[in-house]
Amino acid sequence: MAVTSRTQVGIVGAGPAGLLLSHLLGLYGIESIIVENRSRAYCEARQRAGLLEAGTVEVLRSVGLGKRMDAEGMEHGGIYLQFEGERHHLDFRSLTNGRWVTIYAQTEIVKDIIAARLAAGAQIEFSASEVAVSGVTSDRPVLSYLDESGVAREVSCDVIAGCDGFHGICRPLIPNLSVYERTYPYSWLGILADAAPSTDELIYSRHHDGFALYSMRSPEVSRLYLQVPPDEPIGNWPDDRIWAELQKRFALDGWSVGEGAITDKSVTAMRSFVAGPMRHGRLFLAGDAAHIVPPTGAKGLNLALSDVVVLAAALRAALVSQSWELADAYSDTCLDRVWRATHFSWWMTSMLHVAPGADAFESQLQLSQLRYVTSSRAAALSLAENYSGYKPLRFEH
Ligand code: FAD
Ligand code: PHB
Repeated sequence: MAVTSRTQVGIVGAGPAGLLLSHLLGLYGIESIIVENRSRAYCEARQRAGLLEAGTVEVLRSVGLGKRMDAEGMEHGGIYLQFEGERHHLDFRSLTNGRWVTIYAQTEIVKDIIAARLAAGAQIEFSASEVAVSGVTSDRPVLSYLDESGVAREVSCDVIAGCDGFHGICRPLIPNLSVYERTYPYSWLGILADAAPSTDELIYSRHHDGFALYSMRSPEVSRLYLQVPPDEPIGNWPDDRIWAELQKRFALDGWSVGEGAITDKSVTAMRSFVAGPMRHGRLFLAGDAAHIVPPTGAKGLNLALSDVVVLAAALRAALVSQSWELADAYSDTCLDRVWRATHFSWWMTSMLHVAPGADAFESQLQLSQLRYVTSSRAAALSLAENYSGYKPLRFEH
């Protein structure tokens, strides 16, 4: 017999979306449980995003999660675009009336929210197995799982939030889902290196051998990415080859990439994916569970956090005031933002990567577009507005 319990919101997944949702609901006095199939250490170490839109930073600050981000995050007022051996700066602050982005790793956001939730006495079940959701069209859906010590548990909830990422169990529970998808004929090889960044802001470089991105994590740690073939075996990339390729794709007279010990290496496929509706009965999807963008626009984490700001307000109205209007609008509200980010991410990706078999016509189109965004104020403003965050959200206390 399973051990039964009761809560208001059952959350599947302790990624950024599930954790922030639990935090926001807590501020509204709504009880939740998070069930996660990985260990806490795994969740806190998974290397992913690093760039936060200004609006995301402001939300995190306004809900008491800004302390370490403000001390350790790095504010950037623009980016560099490099092509044909030249590096061009886009100054977001002057283009957009002062907007900026912050470099603060997803690993650190996850650590900050886990610490805040546990300090507030919230329940997070790490290392759960056989996680399942049932009864989403009833008014008492059930979240069931085996806890870390193998005890079967069933939590009766008012609603379930599927924050379980792209490979989760919640999205398949939505019947008649519309799916829009694009896979790209390349992946990103990402590294973390103990090397002081040789640049003050991120560099997006289009080289005829492929795209490269120079990002960072701290004044001592660089985060770098290389376009590689899809499903590229990591074994094809010994450290020396990675540095040589980075030096080539970022080459500029009198400048070089600072090298150091590589501490993490992984290959990520590039995909656009949007599934809707993001709600079925009392099941709501948020973040990568419903949509994925290629990382060239740095939007995935920002979208995941935006979804849960919308969802928290909708669940407060539903569970505290018995008004389901915001919940009914949830999917459309989120998908509007998601499609803008999907277009921007696809556009950045298409402009900067070299597709296998691309001909000279395609190259000329990419270069023409790059020259346009680095010489037209209107084109640069559009990029800056999308990159730093279009229609930023606020959390209503
Ligand atoms: P996830 O982080 O995937 O969390 C889902 C959680 O659910 C995980 O902890 C998982 O273990 C858990 N889970 C899955 N299945 C189950 C189950 N059955 N039961 C219980 N738990 C389950 N975004 C940006 O905004 N800016 C960037 O700079 C950026 N760079 C990126 C670079 C790379 C290389 C990659 C891969 C991604 C990048 N992203 C970026 C995207 C960003 O990392 C994701 O969009 C973000 O992690 C989404 O958060 P999430 O909480 O929705 O999903
Ligand atoms: C990162 O720092 O990991 C990062 C930054 C910008 C991107 C993608 C990833 O576009």
